[in-house]
Amino acid sequence: MHIRVVTSQPWDIEADLLALPIVADHEPDDTATELDRRIEGALAAYRALGEQAGKAHAGTIIRGRETAAPWLLAMGVGDLAAFDRIAALRFGAAIERRLGGRVVRRLAVWLPATLAGGDGLDAGFLAELVARGVVEGSYEPAAIYRDDVEDAPPALDELVLVVPGGDAHALTAAADRGRVIGEGANRARTLSQRASNDVSPEVLADEATAIAHAHGLEVEVIGPEQAAAMGMGMFLAVGRGSDSPPRFIVMRSGPTGATDRRGRLLAMVGKGVTFDSGGLSLKPSDRMEEMKMDKAGACTVISAIATVAALAPGLPLLAVAPAVENMPGPHSTRPGDIVRAMNGKVVEIQNTDAEGRLILGDALVYAERQGATHLVDVATLTGAVERAFGKQVTGGFGTPQDWWEEVVASGSRQAERYWQIPLVDEYRKDMDTWYAELGNSSGPEASLVKSGLFLKDFATRPWVHLDIGGSGYLRRATPWAARGATGVTHATLVELALRGA
Ligand code: BES
Ligand code: ZN
Ligand code: MN
Repeated sequence: MHIRVVTSQPWDIEADLLALPIVADHEPDDTATELDRRIEGALAAYRALGEQAGKAHAGTIIRGRETAAPWLLAMGVGDLAAFDRIAALRFGAAIERRLGGRVVRRLAVWLPATLAGGDGLDAGFLAELVARGVVEGSYEPAAIYRDDVEDAPPALDELVLVVPGGDAHALTAAADRGRVIGEGANRARTLSQRASNDVSPEVLADEATAIAHAHGLEVEVIGPEQAAAMGMGMFLAVGRGSDSPPRFIVMRSGPTGATDRRGRLLAMVGKGVTFDSGGLSLKPSDRMEEMKMDKAGACTVISAIATVAALAPGLPLLAVAPAVENMPGPHSTRPGDIVRAMNGKVVEIQNTDAEGRLILGDALVYAERQGATHLVDVATLTGAVERAFGKQVTGGFGTPQDWWEEVVASGSRQAERYWQIPLVDEYRKDMDTWYAELGNSSGPEASLVKSGLFLKDFATRPWVHLDIGGSGYLRRATPWAARGATGVTHATLVELALRGA
């Protein structure tokens, strides 16, 4: 999809359809009044009818008249005071979703100056977020395995952002950044969403290799023999029950040994469990099929390093994605088995379903040994985080505090929400087992806190853990997003990495 920014009036834009925002608590300005005159007062008439009063994500399709575009889509955005970055992103996405099944190749979106201003939303950020929203709104998981999807959002050739009086050059650059980030999120979503009989650890490594080659990144895929030689006992314990061998995926950009402009080497570490049956601590069958998405963290970091390479080629960055399938079988790890982690710690695997922290612990140690100065891991680690925060907020941990805050600031700039969970050190002693240094499951009390405390044992540098067990996928579609993988944290990671460019 190509993006163009034009500074002329909305009625002069030649497009298959022109989308425009309807603010709930705001009188139309002169431009909106003139646009409405050109469509015979339809906007005012619809508002009077109560059909389109600006309710967020409610969209009405209207016939164009004295407009270059034959169709208009009036899209509600709610109250102006509540129009923040998240609302801007969802405005773009809701337009695409509302057009599901319609034939639109060139879409124009009018961004009046009234929309900018709140939440530090300048015209550039508005253009970036709306463009990203349109791209993310076009994601359609049903199209991964089928080509006859009804009501799929239209595949656009061109998106025209209409910003009267704007700086077309600067806004085009901003919108293009949004497009690239949106495409990266969709790449992560498709990979996360693919079924477990399709994406094994080997296939995930092949996909990462293809993405690396397409973006000029180095890639290294470590198999079980090499992982054993490196002492990755926790990583290897998880994949044993599966016929598909584990793969430890590493992607790198920038010269060896280099750091970014801030003197950092950021490592993004993602959980890549291509299917989580629970292993011998077998999960109940209810919703077990969702565990195809237990690789979402890995898919996110694999895609994010490619997105960063597209926006800032050569920026030093590391992505680490341990990939395993967690299955029961004669070779499986048993509850009670003792393994040695890469950092030498002796760990008792009390519950084979608490497998994410095992593979991530070794991956964090590996990343530090590769020279990472700062760590962020992304994982569908717990069901508890979903019970606590639902789908709209990602729970996380971090230390030291300023590193956590930097990750959250990157997130709010990119319209992604986080909430910090405390690392209560007093609980750590409950995680000793009677003859190992650390157990991977410690009963129901503060289980969410303990998931973070477990990982903290394997990080010695600034580290943040983002648990996308709730926010990583939707069980039902919203007006701005399809059901399935959300790609959440991708934009945060990209923003965070680019701060070092
Ligand atoms: N992948 C799951 C977490 C999960 C469950 C994410 C449901 C999204 C929805 C993880 O490996 C897991 O099984 N965690 C256990 C940990 C427990 C055994 C300590 C959990 O959350 O129940
Ligand atoms: Zn899991
Ligand atoms: Mn599990």
